Amino acid sequence: MSELEPPQRQAPDSLMLTGFWYRALPADRVHRNQLHQAMLLEIPLVIGRDRAGHPFALRDACPHRGMPLNCGKFDGKNIECSYHGWTFDAHNGQCQIIPSLTADQNLKVDRIYAGSYPCEEQDGFIWVYLPDPSPPGAGFAKPEEAPDPAPLIEKFSDKYKLAYLTADMPVSIDHGIIGHMDPAHGPFVHQAWWWRSRHSIHEKKKNFEPIPNGFRMSAHTPSSNSAPYKLLRLYADADSITTMIDFTLPNLRNETIRAGKYWFSSLTTVTPITRNQCRIDVVAAWNIFRWLPFGPEMLKFVFAKFVEQDRRTMELQAEGLKHNPHLMLIDDADRPAKWYFQLKAAHLEAKRTASAMKHPMSGPVTLKWRS
Ligand code: FES
Ligand SMILES: [Fe+2]
Repeated sequence: MSELEPPQRQAPDSLMLTGFWYRALPADRVHRNQLHQAMLLEIPLVIGRDRAGHPFALRDACPHRGMPLNCGKFDGKNIECSYHGWTFDAHNGQCQIIPSLTADQNLKVDRIYAGSYPCEEQDGFIWVYLPDPSPPGAGFAKPEEAPDPAPLIEKFSDKYKLAYLTADMPVSIDHGIIGHMDPAHGPFVHQAWWWRSRHSIHEKKKNFEPIPNGFRMSAHTPSSNSAPYKLLRLYADADSITTMIDFTLPNLRNETIRAGKYWFSSLTTVTPITRNQCRIDVVAAWNIFRWLPFGPEMLKFVFAKFVEQDRRTMELQAEGLKHNPHLMLIDDADRPAKWYFQLKAAHLEAKRTASAMKHPMSGPVTLKWRS
C-alpha cells in the first residue's frame, strides 16, 4: 500500500451507511403530543412522542401524495394528514382512516402504511434505526424491526450525570468522522491558555487493536493534556487513570476513562444529515463532580469550546473542499482515517457478497505521531 492515498480511492466519499441506528434529536426537545422534523441520511422524518411519552419516527411524507406529515394533526396516537385527512398510527404507520371512501368502496385501508422506523430513547437522545432501502412498493410495506437495540453509553455506577452537546458541520460524513479521530489537529485547532499551546507538542505512541466493526485505542494512561484527565487527576493518582477509545461503524466513538471508583464515559456520534452536511453529538456520563453544582457546567464549557473549534475548522475546510482538491492521508497520524475507509469498504463488500466482513486489521498495531 502506498504511503499517500486520497480518501476517494478507499471508499466512495460521503456514502451514507444504512442498516444502523442514528441519533436523531435530543430527547429533551421532543415533547408529548407534538411533531418535530428531523433529517437523517437525506431522509426527512417526523418525530414525536405519544400520550404516554413513547417516541416514534415516521417518514415525513404521506404515502398518498407526499404531503409532509409534520403539517398534520396529532392527537397523541394518530397523525391526520393535512391534505386529504388520511390518518396513520404514529408508531407503525398503519393507515386507519381514508375519509373520501364511501361505504361500498372496499379498499383495504389497513394494508396501507406510512413509512415508519424503529425508534428508541437512549441516554438523552431519540435514536432511529434506518434499514437498508426496501424494494419499491412502499405504501404497502410494513415497518421493519431493528436487529439490535440502540447503542448505550457504558456506565460504572448507579448514580451519574449526563449532558450533551450538538453542532452542525458543513462537511460530508467522512470528513466529519476522520476530523474527529485525527490526533494531529489538536495542538493547532484546540489551543486555549487553560489547556495547551502548540509548544506542548510531543511524541506519542499508542496501541490499537481490531474489534468487531471497528478498532480500539487500547487501555492506557491518558495523554496528560486531555480534559477529563486533568479533572480526574484532582481525585486520583495519575497512574491509576486509564482510558480506552473505541471507534465502531457507522459513526460511534466511545471513550471511557476510569480512576478507581470514578469514571467518565462519552459516546460521540457524527451523523450524516445530507451528502454535504453532518452533525456531531457528544453525550457524556460521569460520576465525578456529582456533588459540585458547577461540575456539569464546567465540563460542558470545556467540551463546547472543543466542539466549536472543530465546527469552525470544518466550516473553513468546506470552503477548501468546494472545488474538489486532491487530498492525501499519511502514516501514522492518518492511519485511523485509513482504517475507517477500509472498514467502510469491507462492510459494504460483506453486504454485497452476503458474507462475513473481512476486518482490515490483522492484529494489534502501534502508531506514533507528534501532537
Ligand atoms: S397527501 Fe396525505 S392524505 Fe392526501
Ligand atoms: Fe477536534
